Amino acid sequence: MHNPSLLPFLALISTALSTPFLSPRATCTVQSQNYEVYDDAPLINDALRTCGSGGTIRLPDNYSIRSALDLSPCQNCDIQLEGILLMSDDWNAWINKTAYISTVGAKGLTLRSLTGNGLIDGHSQGWFQRARYIPQYPDPREHMPSLVLLSSAQDIRISNLRLIDAPREFFRVDGGNQRVEFSDLTISVRDQWYQKVDTMWESSAFQLRNSSAVHLTRIAVDFRSNSRPFQADGGTGACVMLDWGLDDVSVTDISCHGTYYGVMLQFGGVDMDRCLGPAPEEAQISQNIVIKNYTANSTHNAGFLFHLQYGRPQVDNLTYDTVDFVGGAYLENSVNYEWPNYCRYTWQPQHWSGNYSNVWFRTLSGDLGVPNDKSPVFCKTYGCLNCWMGGACDFHFEGVPVYMPGRL
Ligand SMILES: *[C@@H]1O[C@H](CO)[C@@H](O)[C@H](O)[C@H]1NC(C)=O
Ligand SMILES: *[C@@H]1O[C@H](CO)[C@@H](O)[C@H](O)[C@H]1NC(C)=O
Ligand SMILES: *[C@@H]1O[C@H](CO)[C@@H](O)[C@H](O)[C@H]1NC(C)=O
Ligand SMILES: *[C@@H]1O[C@H](CO)[C@@H](O)[C@H](O)[C@H]1NC(C)=O
Ligand SMILES: *[C@@H]1O[C@H](CO)[C@@H](O)[C@H](O)[C@H]1NC(C)=O
Ligand SMILES: *[C@@H]1O[C@H](CO)[C@@H](O)[C@H](O)[C@H]1NC(C)=O
Ligand SMILES: *[C@@H]1O[C@H](CO)[C@@H](O)[C@H](O)[C@H]1NC(C)=O
Repeated sequence: MHNPSLLPFLALISTALSTPFLSPRATCTVQSQNYEVYDDAPLINDALRTCGSGGTIRLPDNYSIRSALDLSPCQNCDIQLEGILLMSDDWNAWINKTAYISTVGAKGLTLRSLTGNGLIDGHSQGWFQRARYIPQYPDPREHMPSLVLLSSAQDIRISNLRLIDAPREFFRVDGGNQRVEFSDLTISVRDQWYQKVDTMWESSAFQLRNSSAVHLTRIAVDFRSNSRPFQADGGTGACVMLDWGLDDVSVTDISCHGTYYGVMLQFGGVDMDRCLGPAPEEAQISQNIVIKNYTANSTHNAGFLFHLQYGRPQVDNLTYDTVDFVGGAYLENSVNYEWPNYCRYTWQPQHWSGNYSNVWFRTLSGDLGVPNDKSPVFCKTYGCLNCWMGGACDFHFEGVPVYMPGRL
């Protein structure tokens, strides 16, 4: 990015189709201003307003994004990112904003790269390495935006992109979305800070809540690339955090490396730093979830981990199928007590476990840990898949090497 003299340029090419009964498919091509101090977001937002209704928005250049992108005008539109969306690293400007890229109310949105060169760069190494808990610096409770927020959106497809260095979550799917597909995505963070207490809940690849028909496939998440002295001890953030209010979710062909949490049910995990308290009663279930062909290399890989603010989690019809625990791994059912204690929740034992029905573990391989006298099934280090504190655990095992029947 070097030439500040180029004028903002937005080409609108309408391609008339021969049949008068079809409206032409408009194409907007957004040309970058090619200078990092200029904000290209307004140009892209203009293109969305111009071509968003049934058209194509082409993004062939590298863009400097210094204010939020709003994809809401997209109704059956096709956004083709072939260059880089580089978010401003002036994080004081983003603090407390909702999202860098939001899709509130979008219907029929495709965001993809045809060439495979499309990259969304959250540019957050400075944020990762900020001094924490020092009064003159922004308080870590101040919320950084989701990189991409899906809310009240329908028929969304996001594919064939790379994403790096989101300050917090890469994708937050929340607020009543229907029919969402993520495929062929590579997601990584670099140089997260080393403090486990922070890094274990920062930087999620996916947070899903209150949505139905959400499908993730061919997703590679790798949060290992921490260079010293910024190595995160024990992993960074979550790979896929499944929170309350989900129905019909699949996560297939996924690998998670170097995240603290893998693909897990984590009720109360989304927004836990905002201290919002328990979810409403009617929302306390997630159901019809399949996690299949999952390469698990996180600290906590699979199972359930509920956050203390949460009421009584309920999960029905969940299957883990073909999970290879390749490292640092365990399967568990527990309560998260290890996060910064900003919120003063009452520790009520009846809220420490869930009500799980039709939960299947099929074809698990790798290092699962072993049952022992104190902790019945699959224990490793300090995590166990057991049923405790009044939980109702209808767990089934098939093709699993170590299991002591009757011990749950
Ligand atoms: C975008 O940036 C990448 C990496 O710096 C560079 O390889 C590519 O040529 C740039 N694309 C354009 C259109 O300038
Ligand atoms: C962000 O929100 C918090 C909590 O509401 C507030 O204390 C803080 O001043 C806000 N920060 C900025 C930069 O707006
Ligand atoms: C789920 O999202 C919908 C749509 O935004 C909203 O109306 C509803 O209140 C949300 N459910 C809960 C329990 O928050
Ligand atoms: C399992 O997922 C990996 C990607 O993580 C993929 O390469 C592999 O082909 C998948 N296996 C099957 C049987 O689909
Ligand atoms: C699992 O992650 C660790 C680092 O956390 C890494 O050293 C190891 O190579 C990874 N295993 C595989 C099979 O990729
Ligand atoms: C369980 O959930 C899966 C995935 O959504 C679905 O295919 C299956 O039909 C469900 N089973 C039952 C008994 O509802
Ligand atoms: C668990 O959920 C089932 C089905 O939703 C319900 O019938 C049962 O009462 C619940 N059990 C407990 C202990 O909450």
